[in-house]
Amino acid sequence: MPKLKINGHEIEVPSGATVLQACEEAGEEIPRFCYHNRLSIAGNCRMCLVDLENAPKPIASCAMPAADGMEIHTNTASVKKAREGVMEFLLINHPLDCPICDQGGECDLQDQAVAYGRHFSRFGEGKRSVHDKDIGPLVGTIMTRCIHCTRCIRFSEEIAGVEEMGAVYRGEHMEIGTYIEKAMHSELSGNLIDLCPVGALTSKPYAFTARPWELKKTETIDAMDAVGSNIRIDARGREIMRVLPRLNEDVNEEWISDKSRFSCDGLKYKRLDRPWIREDGCLKPASWQQAFSAIHQSLETLEGNQIASISGDMVDCESVFALKQLMSYLGSQNIDCRQDLSIYNTRLRASYIFNSGISSIEDSDCILLVGTNPRFEAPIINARIRKSWLQGDIPIGLIGQKRDLTYQYDHLGDNADILSQIVKESHPFFEKLKQAKRPMIILGQAALSRPDSEGVIYQSRILAQKTDMITGQWFGFNILQTAAGRVGALDIGFVPGPEGRDTRGILESASSGEIKFVYLLGADELEVSRLENSFIVYQGHHGDRGAAVADVILPGAAYTEKDATWVNTEGRVQRATAAVQPPGQAREDWAIIRALSEVVGHSLSYDTLPDLRSLMIKEFPVLAGIDKQTPGEWGEFGEDKPIDQKPFGESVSNFYMTDPISRCSPTMAECIKAFSVDIDGKINTNG
Ligand code: SF4
Ligand code: SF4
Ligand code: FES
Repeated sequence: MPKLKINGHEIEVPSGATVLQACEEAGEEIPRFCYHNRLSIAGNCRMCLVDLENAPKPIASCAMPAADGMEIHTNTASVKKAREGVMEFLLINHPLDCPICDQGGECDLQDQAVAYGRHFSRFGEGKRSVHDKDIGPLVGTIMTRCIHCTRCIRFSEEIAGVEEMGAVYRGEHMEIGTYIEKAMHSELSGNLIDLCPVGALTSKPYAFTARPWELKKTETIDAMDAVGSNIRIDARGREIMRVLPRLNEDVNEEWISDKSRFSCDGLKYKRLDRPWIREDGCLKPASWQQAFSAIHQSLETLEGNQIASISGDMVDCESVFALKQLMSYLGSQNIDCRQDLSIYNTRLRASYIFNSGISSIEDSDCILLVGTNPRFEAPIINARIRKSWLQGDIPIGLIGQKRDLTYQYDHLGDNADILSQIVKESHPFFEKLKQAKRPMIILGQAALSRPDSEGVIYQSRILAQKTDMITGQWFGFNILQTAAGRVGALDIGFVPGPEGRDTRGILESASSGEIKFVYLLGADELEVSRLENSFIVYQGHHGDRGAAVADVILPGAAYTEKDATWVNTEGRVQRATAAVQPPGQAREDWAIIRALSEVVGHSLSYDTLPDLRSLMIKEFPVLAGIDKQTPGEWGEFGEDKPIDQKPFGESVSNFYMTDPISRCSPTMAECIKAFSVDIDGKINTNG
């Protein structure tokens, strides 16, 4: 641990720290453009110059390792002059664009020019200009503003794993771009916008729409996948203008996926803003009272076993809890939250969460992926796997469809039987897992939505036990969920009762006429045509697949419009905050169910969200631990059944459209066009 002096104060820093980090530790602000603590050090902007005693000239603090006995000065006349010089050079070729620049008001160059620059320029010649590049529908480029910090290049190579950005030409002619002009193939490309310290890379959908100071900022949780990324929503009035990441080292670090960031424009279209009732085959506008009465009428003559309910992928815990109670009052055990037809016993939490936690992926030294494509199912988790691979060049094996995951792995095959071979120790990958100190298995939804999923889970559990994945210090058995609402609904037990039917059974019984009433709470990823013989209530926020077949539509709130609890794939309970009001007559989902319960004669016992929450937490204490992640209880789960030889499929084949919001998003539609996504969702990597 080196000890050094910063402006006369002695400080001890961890070995390997740089002088810039030591200065930060000592509370000194060091301006920088190219340095970023998650990227490799480039040392090319020279904005971080400081004085090192006995050195002939100022040093770039970001690139200089802190060493014992150093004496650093950050506020001398020579440092001031050096910074002014660097700033003057940066600005000679920078356009006077601030009034029309989207970065205005949140620009590092603006801020640092004011704080560290001169108030005049000696440069009278013409400024250089650079042609803009087209790198896709998400990131806009105004390359004349580029200051060549190379953050975008390093992010693409190191974090996103796509070596598509680079610099061409030298000196004054240097240009940043994608070499051959084409869209950047990454699900994390929007993060370039946050990383670029100037307005060279900006958000295309957000271009020229708002200034930062006009926006109301709400810190909340993303629901576009099961990662539960921490986000900030910027809204003007009732319109969401943009979504940005928030720092959470344990979940998403400071990144979000392009779907989380850019699909928010889907919240403006095809919204359900009033109740509807189907009459003579056509949906007609109705009042809440009329809609509730129609539901009441259809329920009046039905027994509990003729009623069913399916909750969707973006439903919050409070709404699931309220619906479960209502269904129980109606005597129905036909409830399920697994629209993808996955089957597994949910008695033990360890059997359905990502037990190790997302951040512990970095500690693993051998990973087996089974029936998953983490790049599409959870790009943030895929980036962690890549980080782990980059740090340790660890062995990674995949049983499933061969895809470009942005890191090297052994494709063991797509046949599910390979898992059995590994468990029987007749496959060489068993030895790799056995020899690892912290081995990990990640099971995806493609492995769980097959009829033999209990067998797959059983084999995976046995493998975890045989290879010491479960010890006091390490828990390497992980399920990668893809739906934001899934773990919360499983925690609440929104699964069939002892006599109840699961999603598959509900679909079959509804088409045969045994089930006569189906309540779809935000459930759109189903073969809804099989429900058409029954009376369908659809409660949700978009006029999507469920609403198309509904007899009564109840307008609910989207994830950006409600205070709600979500549980991410690792079992972390997080609270979201409403950024805007739901449109028209739409209401928070739990409140709709509460109001309906009164009309159907089974009033739920709470009138406010805090009352509902305290009851929910009393019944399901696991939902009390906000922002905590702990592995589930280990035990015996899965069934010792033969595994089918058929290959694992893909649970997310089209990353850009997976839910009602992204299906309505013009930006996501642009992505599909730009990236030439095939009908089956495969990206055509030739652009
Ligand atoms: Fe102004 Fe910053 Fe935009 Fe440059 S990048 S034009 S300094 S706001
Ligand atoms: Fe840096 Fe932005 Fe230029 Fe990339 S485009 S080198 S991030 S200034
Ligand atoms: Fe040190 Fe750029 S921040 S050289």
